Amino acid sequence: MTSQTWNPQSYLAAAGFVPVLGQPVVDLLAPQPGETILDLGCGDGTLTARIAGSGARVIGVDGSPEMVAAARARGLDARVMDGHALHLPEQVDAVFSNAALHWMKRDPAAVVAGVVRHLKPGGRFVGEFGGFGNVAAVTTALLAALAKRGIDGIARHPWYFPTADQYARLLEAAGLRVADISLFPRPTPLPQGMAGWLRTFAGPFVDDLGPAEQAAVQADVEALLRPSLCDAQGRWVADYVRLRFVATA
Ligand code: BEZ
Repeated sequence: MTSQTWNPQSYLAAAGFVPVLGQPVVDLLAPQPGETILDLGCGDGTLTARIAGSGARVIGVDGSPEMVAAARARGLDARVMDGHALHLPEQVDAVFSNAALHWMKRDPAAVVAGVVRHLKPGGRFVGEFGGFGNVAAVTTALLAALAKRGIDGIARHPWYFPTADQYARLLEAAGLRVADISLFPRPTPLPQGMAGWLRTFAGPFVDDLGPAEQAAVQADVEALLRPSLCDAQGRWVADYVRLRFVATA
């Protein structure tokens, strides 16, 4: 499996909705002046900056050097770090995460263990990411387009989309108390259509294919999805399902 690569400029154009739609998670976090908050998977720092605007001190971490550079360019304290191996020299009042935990598939328990290690007693873990059934139609279309070419797409599947029960059990097993957790559909309009979404997010499925084969996979995926995810005006909507939670240490 090739790993996902990120380009902050094209991300903004094709997926600028991600931080916009993350505002309710910031509201749930309710950052306070004087708090120290870790933004796990901070991306280009759009929401990190918003949290910092509340007067909290925010440390952003992300696995992508390109995204961390974009966050630093905003003047944020952002560090390149694998979410599976969190290591800060201090504990924090809260850990926040939007649209990032689904990329940390290798060992979700290790991710939560790192969060717990960094939370002060009574601290909170507030987040949202893709839950069970997220982008199911898109994934199935990708798997079908790859299978047609003799490629095992399941072996390349890069995302972790747990049910609410599954994730609640993971949080509790790590010693957190789950105050709230819910799974809900959030159909999401795509500003650059399915092609833009695939270019931005589906790299792990296709990056090792040649340009012609990538274009053919994209065409097949669009053809499979058009009847269900594209309206008569050509507007694409992705079948997002979110898992949102608040847990405390
Ligand atoms: C999401 O935000 O749910 C998501 C984004 C890209 C790929 C998979 C899921």
